[in-house]
Amino acid sequence: MKKVSVCFVCLGNICRSPTAEAVMRHLVEEAGLTECIDVDSAGTGDWHIGEAPDARAQRAGGRRGYDLAPLRARQIEADDFQRFDFVLAMDDANLSALEDVCPAGAREKVRLLMEFAPQLDARVVADPYFGGDAGFETVLDQCETACAGLLAALRTRLGD
Ligand code: 4NP
Repeated sequence: MKKVSVCFVCLGNICRSPTAEAVMRHLVEEAGLTECIDVDSAGTGDWHIGEAPDARAQRAGGRRGYDLAPLRARQIEADDFQRFDFVLAMDDANLSALEDVCPAGAREKVRLLMEFAPQLDARVVADPYFGGDAGFETVLDQCETACAGLLAALRTRLGD
């Protein structure tokens, strides 16, 4: 069976990328594609390794039916560029950080998540960490739209 894998990447792996991971897992389960699509997330920074997602991200996600509680933060590692077909950054700082450590042959795997939501006209998912609850709702809105677009792209790849 054909398989495809995706890793979402933000700075801390406690707000944006675990939100994207939970949203994508939900969509993949709904589509009955858990056997074909692997979903994970990581941070470019190391401050929060081993921690559960930020309580605000868990609450906001939980209100929309996403369970972030089992997720634990980890840092991106060299092997991830082999393991995943798509390594999707939340913003330009994380895109640059990934490009700095990405092996030359895997460069085309590294992209911005919001490329998959062209209708939103937003280049990045902004960091909600130092802001209020509204930022976490925006993260969810963006992740829901972009992950739907991503799923469509992955279906195409699986069907190729
Ligand atoms: P994330 O948010 O990158 O979406 O997980 C942040 C989490 C922690 C920090 C910054 C952003 N921090 O500075 O610790």
